[in-house]
Amino acid sequence: MKGVILAGGKGTRLRPFTKIINKHLLPVGPFPMIYWSIKKLKEAEIKDILILTNKEHLSNFISIFGNGKGLGVNLTYKVQDGPNGIADGVAYAKSFVRDEKFITILGDNIFEDSLVPYIESFKQQKSGGRVLLKEVPNPSRYGIAILNKETNTIQSIIEKPEKTNSPYCVTGVYMYNVQVFDFINAIKPSARGELEITDVNNLFINQNQLQYDILKGWWIDAGTHESLYKANTLVYELIKISKRKGEERE
Ligand code: G1P
Repeated sequence: MKGVILAGGKGTRLRPFTKIINKHLLPVGPFPMIYWSIKKLKEAEIKDILILTNKEHLSNFISIFGNGKGLGVNLTYKVQDGPNGIADGVAYAKSFVRDEKFITILGDNIFEDSLVPYIESFKQQKSGGRVLLKEVPNPSRYGIAILNKETNTIQSIIEKPEKTNSPYCVTGVYMYNVQVFDFINAIKPSARGELEITDVNNLFINQNQLQYDILKGWWIDAGTHESLYKANTLVYELIKISKRKGEERE
């Protein structure tokens, strides 16, 4: 399987920093934010990774990560024409993934769980897609999955619902087979002018082709000042714990 990390967008909620720097290069712990997505993919043995970003910031990514050798991965870069949505971003992966299944991560999503078990379940899946959900206290900020607990399926996904009883946010980790590219071709831009990944996921749902798992550990979309601060706190906490474990072992 191959990996795709989306790192475009304007990052307006992280201004003024994002006036000069790509959001995904802001620090989370001692590394740029996107490092954590690369690390999660590498841990799952996914080493062929496409980074999609915008023209202005492409050279910054190359300056920091180069071809990925230093991190033990193979990085490929592509430029997205504009901030036209997550589904638009996924479409750029077509020639990179060819006919393989793949995983896409939004580069501002930072989370505790290892991807290994979820990727293993997706590999067992004959077709379709798989998303990772997480309970959130503020569902109106996200794509929210309405679950049918009896059949263990997603009934539908609503993008930023004003009101909902479901706490299950669809996180920015999406696993797809190549059918996704037909679905992206079939959707139209939303009211905010973007090709919405939620519309694509709903097409998978209509065909009973979208499976899910619920993340066990913490999950953060580090797209605002407050959530970026929180991501830093949690990442440093993890670093402290793993240092302590290392010292105990010595
Ligand atoms: C996007 C998706 C949304 C998802 C979220 C996860 O929201 O549209 O469905 O829950 O990422 O981070 P956006 O960040 O574009 O508002």
